[in-house]
Amino acid sequence: MKILITGGAGFIGANFVFYMLKEHPDYDIVCLDALTYAGNLETLEPAMKNDRFKFVKGDVADREVVFKLFEEEGFNVVVNFAAESHVDRSIEDPGIFLKTNILGTQVLMDACNKYGIDRFHQVGTDEVYGDLPLDRPDLFFTETTPITASSPYSASKASADLLVMAYHRTYGLPVTISRCSNNYGPYQFPEKLIPLMIANALADKELPVYGEGLNVRDWLYVEDHCRAIDLILHEGKVGEVYNIGGHNEMKNIDIVKLICKYLDKPETLIKYVTDRKGHDLRYAIDPTKIHEELGWLPTTMFADGIKKTIDWYLDNQDWWKNIISGEYQEYYEKMYGNR
Ligand code: NAD
Ligand code: DAU
Repeated sequence: MKILITGGAGFIGANFVFYMLKEHPDYDIVCLDALTYAGNLETLEPAMKNDRFKFVKGDVADREVVFKLFEEEGFNVVVNFAAESHVDRSIEDPGIFLKTNILGTQVLMDACNKYGIDRFHQVGTDEVYGDLPLDRPDLFFTETTPITASSPYSASKASADLLVMAYHRTYGLPVTISRCSNNYGPYQFPEKLIPLMIANALADKELPVYGEGLNVRDWLYVEDHCRAIDLILHEGKVGEVYNIGGHNEMKNIDIVKLICKYLDKPETLIKYVTDRKGHDLRYAIDPTKIHEELGWLPTTMFADGIKKTIDWYLDNQDWWKNIISGEYQEYYEKMYGNR
């Protein structure tokens, strides 16, 4: 079995590489990653020592690179994580989101059609369902919730999902799609809520909470996401969408306060800043389908996962300090400077 994992130098992709190398000692894995600002080869160092793993630097939207790789390697399975993933960046500059997230997915599927494949798995997001109201805790996203989108990021991911289903119906490409809620865990880029708040709190910097901090996200420990994708690859039905989430809704402000408490930092560091444009109010996944059909349930409870995550950022300060010392400073100033 040879698997192509795209975007494997990013947060979830790297965790998936580690997971698959550990769980499937007979699989060969090739990672294709463009090493954008979000990709980090240092993360993959442990995998590089494994002779069942190979890294290739390249853009999923580059047809020549992708087709050559498929011809040389003969993949059985493709798992597409490669994406521009940050909502705030998509609001500033949507173009690259359309190129990577939509056209990149198309190029990969064209290669699958040409060279043959047993499965193309698209790593999707719950953001394609739009958002839910804060005062209706009885509502959840199911696989049949209509697709809609609030940000250029979610619109690009929704477009990719539609294209994946169209390639299934039109060309018979054996596809699956997963749509997961917010992930947290080791190796998450410090532009995202949890690692940003940990890094700022450790430096006694302001903790910028958008709006009133009342928006709700449904958090899942990254390893549980990886296990769900592995299950879908092996036991999921072709042509199906699976929602992934663990019923763990939290208000942003409560997460930030919890981080302050764990790190023994004062809540006076919290600064309420101008809200994100088009800010989705609440995400909440109904995971009944993946539970009933594939037996998946999350294994890491938030109380444990968040401690493990904060401890990981405490123990691996070189990893994220390297990142925030570079162009990240410019990004931070642009996004938060006058907010
Ligand atoms: P990330 O930003 O941490 O990593 C993205 C990776 O893709 C990076 O290594 C980057 O270099 C690579 N990449 C970007 N453009 C590329 C291109 N053109 N060609 C090849 N590689 C490219 O993202 P993440 O948080 O790990 O998310 C991974 C996937 O999971 C994305 O598709 C995202 O939409 C989806 N997802 C994320 C979450 C979450 O909470 N982070 C939840 C659900 C779904
Ligand atoms: O739901 C899945 C999605 O989760 C993924 O598809 C995206 O790739 C991923 O980035 C994530 O999107 P969010 O926008 O929910 O994540 P983010 O960490 O950017 O923000 C989480 C919440 O915290 C959101 O309501 C905005 C808020 N926030 C975020 C940042 C970075 C703040 O209040 N302050 C901040 O500085």
